[in-house]
Amino acid sequence: MSKRVRLCRAEDIPDYCAQGFDPNRRGFDTLFVVRQGRYFYAYADVCPHYGDTSLPWKKDEYLDAAGENIVCAAHGALFNIRSGLCTSGPCKGESLRPISVIRESDDSLWVALEDLEQ
Ligand code: FES
Repeated sequence: MSKRVRLCRAEDIPDYCAQGFDPNRRGFDTLFVVRQGRYFYAYADVCPHYGDTSLPWKKDEYLDAAGENIVCAAHGALFNIRSGLCTSGPCKGESLRPISVIRESDDSLWVALEDLEQ
C-alpha cells in the first residue's frame, strides 16, 4: 500500500466549491479539490499553459463565477471540472494533471504521495 496524506474531511469542502492543499508543506498549495455533491475531483495546481503557474488569483478561488469551470486567473483558461480538459483559452485541448482522491469510511479525503511527486 502506498503512503498517503490526509487532506481534510469531505464536509470541509462546501458543495460546488474548491479548496487548495499543501500536503507536502511547501508553503503554497500544490493541489486542489473540487466538490460536486458526493463527487470530488482533484488536480495539481499547475496550469498547462506555462507549466509552473498556479491557477487561482487568491486562496481557493479555482472556479469561475458560476462555479461551472475551473479557471486559470493568469490568462483566463477554462477547464472542465470532471475531466480537467481545457475547453477555452491559450491551452485549449490540454489538461490539468488529475490526482486520485481516496474517500475513507470516516469521510476523510486522502491522496497518495506518489501522485504528488510526479
Ligand atoms: S498560465 Fe494559465 S492560462 Fe496562461
